[in-house]
Amino acid sequence: MLILGIESSCDETAAAVVEDGRVLRSSVVATQVDIHALYGGVVPEIASRAHTEAIHGVVEEALRTAGITLADVDGIAVTHAPGLIGALLTGVSFAKGLAFSAGKPLIPVHHLRGHIAATYLVSPELCPPFAALCVSGGNTELLVVEDYTRFRQVGTTRDDAAGEAFDKCARVLGLPYPGGAAMDRLASAGNASAYKLPEGKVDGSPYDFSFSGLKTAVINVVHTETQRGRVIDDAFRGDIAASFTKAVVQTLVGRLELLLQAEPELKDVVLCGGVAANSHLRAACSALAEQYGRTLYLPPLKLCGDNAAMIASQGYYEYLAGNLATTALNAYASKGI
Ligand code: KG4
Repeated sequence: MLILGIESSCDETAAAVVEDGRVLRSSVVATQVDIHALYGGVVPEIASRAHTEAIHGVVEEALRTAGITLADVDGIAVTHAPGLIGALLTGVSFAKGLAFSAGKPLIPVHHLRGHIAATYLVSPELCPPFAALCVSGGNTELLVVEDYTRFRQVGTTRDDAAGEAFDKCARVLGLPYPGGAAMDRLASAGNASAYKLPEGKVDGSPYDFSFSGLKTAVINVVHTETQRGRVIDDAFRGDIAASFTKAVVQTLVGRLELLLQAEPELKDVVLCGGVAANSHLRAACSALAEQYGRTLYLPPLKLCGDNAAMIASQGYYEYLAGNLATTALNAYASKGI
């Protein structure tokens, strides 16, 4: 079964073809990063317009690279939540028109379900149930994937997502948007004990995350140091990046450890989302999985960030579960998994 996936929830316009949920036939991603970098973050209205310009060509290229035409497609999967509403609406409207005109089933896919499914594309043996730590620019979720379309939320962020915190700290250090990957590189050369930064805890909710206090602490350190005359050079950036990354990784891995202790029957663990590209987080999750005798599954770097292959993969399982939509399908800026 061939599913065409369409993704436009933030600043990547993407389309892909996946066979039977597991075999990647094509994946095309048109990124808007350079446009938004001018403003230091994603400008929603510009994102919507850029999606509108790119989406037709991106879908055509995905079909062509897969060596098929629209007639060969068995279903059209589209991200309908969560994300920037105007950006989501571009993909949803396009997918609705395509599905209606070609007489194909329309399959709504939750963006985070997609991030998890990215791992199915490289790990044929992986199947639910498993624990999932989903860390991206807009979301930070600790989940139990009970079945392909049944999810139990264990913990979530009460304020900023981890990726958002990476990007904001990078900005304070004068790094271009999105700064996550640069912070990763700088952290490798920095001293993680240079600054003691707080690990956000939520009273009474041991599995939940909070990153806004950490972000504020970084801003305060940078202001204090610059007022003392310290120059923001790569040595300083490295120490901040390393100290910040240590605090984020400890927070994320600490919550995952609690879950592994509480639910020993979960033998497999998935780390996914844009921040899953972080080398320090990958290493820490690997060490944790080894310590607890679990198997860690990681998407390759190119499938960590937003893409449509993950949407097509999850779309296959949504189709099998009968989760289809009509042309009345709407987009939602926020929606539980
Ligand atoms: O999954 P994604 O493409 O978008 C959402 O679905 O939100 O994630 C993008 C986020 C950005 O915040 C970016 O800075 C972060 O992932 N990111 C990283 C790394 N690579 C990307 N954060 C930390 N370390 C990285 N290596």
